[in-house]
Amino acid sequence: MAENTLTVTDNRTGKSYELAVENGSIRAIDLRNIKIDEDDFGLLSYDPALVNTAACKSTITFIDGDKGILCYRGYPIEELAESSTYLETAYLVVKGELPDQDHLDAWTHNITMHTMVHQNVGKFLEGFRYDAHPMGMLVSTVAAMSTFYDGDNDIFDVESRRLQTRRLIGKMPTIAAMCYRHSLGLPYVLPDNNLSYTGNFLSMMFKMTEQSFTPKPVFERALDVLFILHADHEQNCSANAVRAVGSSHVDQYCAVSAAAAALYGPLHGGANEAVIRMLTEIGSVNNVPAFIESVKAGERRLMGFGHRVYRNYDPRARIIKEIAYEVFEETGKNPLIDIALELERIALDDDYFVSRRLYPNVDFYSGSIYQAMGFPVAMFPVLFAIPRTSGWLAQWAEMIQDPEQKITRPRQIYLGEPTRHWAPIEGRPDPKTQEVRERFFRRL
Ligand code: ACO
Repeated sequence: MAENTLTVTDNRTGKSYELAVENGSIRAIDLRNIKIDEDDFGLLSYDPALVNTAACKSTITFIDGDKGILCYRGYPIEELAESSTYLETAYLVVKGELPDQDHLDAWTHNITMHTMVHQNVGKFLEGFRYDAHPMGMLVSTVAAMSTFYDGDNDIFDVESRRLQTRRLIGKMPTIAAMCYRHSLGLPYVLPDNNLSYTGNFLSMMFKMTEQSFTPKPVFERALDVLFILHADHEQNCSANAVRAVGSSHVDQYCAVSAAAAALYGPLHGGANEAVIRMLTEIGSVNNVPAFIESVKAGERRLMGFGHRVYRNYDPRARIIKEIAYEVFEETGKNPLIDIALELERIALDDDYFVSRRLYPNVDFYSGSIYQAMGFPVAMFPVLFAIPRTSGWLAQWAEMIQDPEQKITRPRQIYLGEPTRHWAPIEGRPDPKTQEVRERFFRRL
């Protein structure tokens, strides 16, 4: 018997099967050989929400959720946050290695040369109402970008892939800032290519009538570190979306737009917005114990807590907590931070959270910083989407070049009605009966 195998006995038939074990996993397709007879389809693995299924091999990001470790291409997040810049980290995430000076200069130049968007993007945004959520605008505008580059957008051409990658990383802050300015009715600010990636973003967001905008160095660096921390996070909901949608061979813009849509939800990147709304609603440190009780009673979720992979303190949350104080030295303390700290203190001492291994995640403190810097709450998920674009593009490129990947197409376990025949309307079950009503409601 080979050493790296798993022997499975099917008690329905008494037959034994040897399944190869590679990288701590078996191939789900090998289960298909396990059949009760020749007509049987074969065994499927059932894994709702893919909690124990590796859908790809990846070399981008490593997470040890039990130990609270996060590395991009092998480099610990703490070292990158301390010493790198977002653009250098984006290079690392997309290309796999840290750049030398020449490559970093070329990469920075190439991204910076793509910060401008077509005039029609502004016209497109004008169609949105003044109170449209900026994340909804971003998702739609990124998808619309595919129409601007239709002719030179060939996903099987390496140069084209690289060009769209530079365009997306370069234009994302511009589109994000335009979404914000649209909601205020302010004129759009052209990119200033003399500024850093985050400095230029701050300029496009907040520049008013001044000739040139000088970003506050503390804000510029804090945002840069936050961008580093958000660059990638292996197979999360939005990375899975970019891979699944991209697997149909749609262009990068539509695939990234799908990822941004996945990020928008309050259980994923929308959580930073939900945290601030929650802290505002709690209102005072005195109300924290009652709020925690309502969470324990199952009435609420403690937003910004818990993670599918981390069963320990999210290493990004630890770094963000430190940056918060650097920003508050400049802005004054965001009063919500006291409520957040009290929530964390009580939760980390409470058996409900301890036994479920629920710790603060990346979104718990990031919103307090964004708010102190003057970003409106609705922009928070957008601030997540900008840096995550490099991660999405790296995940997408890995998927598109992986010979083992195909169009994503999961199986299902069908538990619906067996085949039945169309009946004339007068012969159908009475919808007023309890049984039929329940069936209808269940399906809505
Ligand atoms: N507050 C209260 N209870 C929670 C929380 C929370 N934030 N998160 C999980 N739990 C409880 C669940 O009720 C469940 O309890 P039970 O076993 O008694 O039923 C248990 O902990 C396990 O929770 P699951 O929902 O099974 O965990 P899952 O891995 O599916 O969910 C998720 C992870 C979605 C992040 C969840 O923890 C959550 O909803 N957190 C709040 C939203 C949030 O902060 N999302 C941002 C995540 S980070 C990111 O995406 C960038």
